[in-house]
Parts: sequence; C-alpha cells; structure tokens
Amino acid sequence: MIRQNIHLIVAARPNFMKVAPLYHVLKRQDWCRAELVHTGQHYDANMSDTFFSDLGLPPPDYHLGVGSGSHAEQTGAVMVAYEEICLRHRPDWTVVVGDVNSTLACALVAAKLCIALAHLEAGLRSGDRTMPEEINRIVTDRLADLLWTPSSDGNDNLKAEGISGERIELVGNIMIDAFELQRPQIDSLCVAERFGVERGRYGIVTLHRPSNVDDRSSLAQIIDVLIATSHRLPLVFAVHPRTRARLHDFGLDAALARQDGIRLSEPLRYNEFMNLACGARLAITDSGGIQEETTYLNIPCLTLRPNTERPITITQGTNRLVRPDTLAEMVDQALTGGLRTTRHPALWDGKTAARVAESLFRHSGRDLTRTCA
Ligand code: UD1
Repeated sequence: MIRQNIHLIVAARPNFMKVAPLYHVLKRQDWCRAELVHTGQHYDANMSDTFFSDLGLPPPDYHLGVGSGSHAEQTGAVMVAYEEICLRHRPDWTVVVGDVNSTLACALVAAKLCIALAHLEAGLRSGDRTMPEEINRIVTDRLADLLWTPSSDGNDNLKAEGISGERIELVGNIMIDAFELQRPQIDSLCVAERFGVERGRYGIVTLHRPSNVDDRSSLAQIIDVLIATSHRLPLVFAVHPRTRARLHDFGLDAALARQDGIRLSEPLRYNEFMNLACGARLAITDSGGIQEETTYLNIPCLTLRPNTERPITITQGTNRLVRPDTLAEMVDQALTGGLRTTRHPALWDGKTAARVAESLFRHSGRDLTRTCA
C-alpha cells in the first residue's frame, strides 16, 4: 500500500492542542504518514515548546521559523516557506486548523499546488470582519476540499455560503480530546497553590485580542474592572506577550503589579493552565478556545468581546459576552451560580480525532472536485 503523506500545520498556541490528538491517532495507523509542520508564528518557549512537551508531540518534521510581523509579512513569509517545503516534499494532504494567519497562508499554498486541503474547526463565524481571524476562516473554508466542523452551526454557516454539503462533516470539538488525553497529568498538578489561591475561590484571566489590548483606553478600562473584581475574587492573570508589551507601553503595568488580588503570570503551560481552569470559580477572557473549555468544564466564562464565532458556548454552555462596563454585573451573576449548565454540546466527547482520521482515510485516493490545469 502507498502511504498517504499528511502535513499537519501548527503555528500558534491555540493550534497545538487541536493537532496533538489527531497526530497521536494518525501515528497509530498504517495507511498514512503524519508529519508536523511548525510555521514558527509563535516562538517563545512558553507559547510553543512547552505545548509540544505537555501534549507529547515530537519536534516538528519541518520548522519554518517565520516569527512575528504585520499580517501581510507573516502570511507572506509562511506562504513562501511552506511552498518550498511542498515543492520538495509534496504531501497528499495539508491539514490546517483554526483561524490564525498561518492557517490561511498554508491553505493558499496547498490550494494553488492542488494538494488536497482539509480544515479542522471549519465553519465558525463571528460575523465580524474587523477580526483578522474571521477573514482567515472565510478564505480557508472557501479553499478547503474537506471541512470538519465542531458543531452544527458551523455546517449551517458553510451551507449558507454556498459550500457543498458533501465536503462538510460534523466531527465535534477536538479541544476536548486534548483535555481528556492529558487529564491524568492535569489532575496531578496543584497550580492554584503556587499562586496562593484556594481551589474554587479564584478567577482566571487571559487577554490578547488587538481590539482589547492595542488601544490604551480600552485596555485601561478593562484593567480598572479587573482591579475592582479582584477585591471580591482573587484573579490569576496569565499575560500574553502582546498584552505584556502593551501594558508596558501604556504605563499600566505598575498599577496592576501593585494589586494584592491579582497574580500576574507568564503564559502557562497547557497542563498547568487546564489544572488552574478546572479549579476556577470563573474565567474572564477574550480567547476562542477558553470559551469552549469552560463550557465543557461547566465553569462560568465572561468573554470580553462584542460577538463570538462559538455561539453554542452561550446557547448550550456557560459563556456570556460582556463589555468592560457590564463585567462587574456579570461577575455577580456568575458568582451566584447563574451561568452553570448541565449538558455538553453534541460530539464534544473526546472522540473527534478518531472521526477525523476515519474521514481522511475515507476521502484518501478519491478524486477531488477541484481540478488543476
Ligand atoms: C495569534 C492569532 C490569534 C490567536 C492567538 C493566540 C492571528 C491573526 N492571530 O494572535 O488568532 O488567538 O495567536 O495566542 O494569527 N509574540 C511573542 N512571542 C511569541 C508569539 C508572539 O513575543 O511566541 C509577540 C509578537 O511579537 C507580537 C505579539 O506577540 O507582537 C502577537 O503575536 P501574533 O502571532 O501576531 O498574534 P497573537 O496576538 O498571538
């Protein structure tokens, strides 16, 4: 049997936990050879390397070392570097995940070289084209031959955009696979103790969206609310490099560091962050993935954004959208138990990677509907 060669693209922090479960499943199958391609969009040890070790991933087969830059620079640099890899070591499939700049860049390269392209976490839409990730999602989905969605709203969005139903498969949420795979290691840690907070009596905070952190007045307003909240509930704030730089540039870091109720931390390892999340009373975030993880863990999540591409975390989960001026009131509601839920969205069951592998196998060797001259 000729083995199918599959490139799994990873780039930035939220990609690693989506690719790891799929990599582990594919590695056990003899019909394919899975190779990891790291674009290097995230490069700090605590934004990248620790995720490889926590999630049991080997060093990448290819490292493109692209690093930071403007959107055009980052996207262009990934395209140039990934095209070279594909020309020398052409894969049968390119699998991209999520919505970061590297997702779009590798999707464009694969599509132009007529390499079969699959998108994991397809179909999510915030409806907000001011978000770079929304542009990345729309274009990637337009190009993909096979689209794996985490929830049925994804299928609806894709069909509404005219994408043929034959290409779309509802596979569930692969982030839950990563969590369940790591659960023994996650449960063995006591990260709250390190921060001097008590299980069930603290909140976790993450912020990184340019719309929240790149503008001084929004960031200052959010920091004021976090300080007020920390008088009622200690907060562990794992600070993203973008946010750390802006806090420093805007002179907001000193006030934050003085707060007894706020524990500032570098970005945490995957297992550490999930251990802390499991014991949290509430999460305050602008992340995409944390909206989903908290719904799975039944932990109230207040998302500092005007919209979400993950509406199921609101309709079936513990997530609520907040503005800086409604955060305090929503914290009250969360602390009085108003945001708990009793169910998990369908197919958020830890078996998504197996469904994706089965889908890839089923589609391998089949003619693509796309034809290249
Ligand atoms: C990127 C993704 C976003 C994802 C987020 C998770 C895009 C458009 N954005 O945003 O969808 O939710 O990752 O973290 O792809 N930096 C470091 N060290 C690193 C990585 C970045 O210092 O390891 C710095 C960069 O120099 C840059 C800033 O952090 O100034 C932002 O990095 P960038 O990759 O542009 O975007 P993120 O904000 O991380």
